[in-house]
Amino acid sequence: MIFVLGATGKVGRALVPALLDAGAAVRALTRDPAKARIDPRADVVGADLETADLPALFDGADRVFLLTQGFRHEGAIARAAARAGVTHLVKLSTSGVHFGQTDPITRAHAEAEQAVREAGPAWTILRPGAFMDNRFAWLRTIREENTVYVPEGDPASALVHVRDIAAVATLALTTSGHEGATYELTGGEALTTEQQVAVLSDAIGRPIEYVEEPETAARERMTRMYGWPVEAVDGFFALKRESAAHEHVVFDTVARLLGKPPRTFPDWARENAAAFTYHYRG
Ligand SMILES: NC(=O)c1ccc[n+]([C@@H]2O[C@H](COP(=O)([O-])OP(=O)(O)OC[C@H]3O[C@@H](n4cnc5c(N)ncnc54)[C@H](OP(=O)(O)O)[C@@H]3O)[C@@H](O)[C@H]2O)c1
Repeated sequence: MIFVLGATGKVGRALVPALLDAGAAVRALTRDPAKARIDPRADVVGADLETADLPALFDGADRVFLLTQGFRHEGAIARAAARAGVTHLVKLSTSGVHFGQTDPITRAHAEAEQAVREAGPAWTILRPGAFMDNRFAWLRTIREENTVYVPEGDPASALVHVRDIAAVATLALTTSGHEGATYELTGGEALTTEQQVAVLSDAIGRPIEYVEEPETAARERMTRMYGWPVEAVDGFFALKRESAAHEHVVFDTVARLLGKPPRTFPDWARENAAAFTYHYRG
């Protein structure tokens, strides 16, 4: 049985059905099973990783997709999984580790990767770059103002589709040959944010205004409009400052492993166009 942590998250939502379609038995973790919409073929388990009885949680699991938000605990979680007899850990990390970034989020992932390598079970590390799904952050201003606000200097980015991350995770969890492998995962081309907005405009069928704003205004928007805590905004900009130099880099890993080109941003925009269209009354 494969145990998926973060089953309701951006990657987990794509991974659970992909594993089930590949014929695997899946246990899916969420803190709130009543609210979570998880594929009904999965065995849903309700627990909080901060407080759960870890050995009991991993009992009966053969392989684990490891995604945690509180990175400090990732080593303890990996070791508990090992003690419970888990044979393979597939950890979701970040491409920032490949590039040696030193922002707090990337450093925590680097430490967690090391803990996973030392825990005992076989391991595979997935290091995606920025997700296409991050562009859902534009939902509100597109719906309400038909405008996208982008911090000045936002880099071109080889955004990756979460279904491609999930497809690679499925390979690593259901087939052999991925033990001890570290995979950097990106889309097939880097687009500037202005190009991304143009692609989204095409998919939605109306022009969207593109506005670059200074970091101070972007910070203000994140706290006022989205209610982000100041530390989260600081973490975001610390990561951005370091990732800006690398976000355009394209890795061929997805195509190599899946035998087909990565999904594109136009694919993503067409799939999600409907979500961006309602509310706006021009
Ligand atoms: N976004 C990017 O561009 C990007 C790029 C590279 C790497 N990453 C990495 O990807 C990871 C995030 O993945 P994601 O975007 O798929 O996740 P996500 O959408 O942020 O969702 C978080 C998941 O974690 C679960 N969770 C949070 N706290 C929990 C707790 N205390 N106990 C149990 N489960 C808990 C949530 O489940 P419930 O709420 O249902 O309990 C949810 O399934 C992070 O490590 C991030 O650094 C992101």
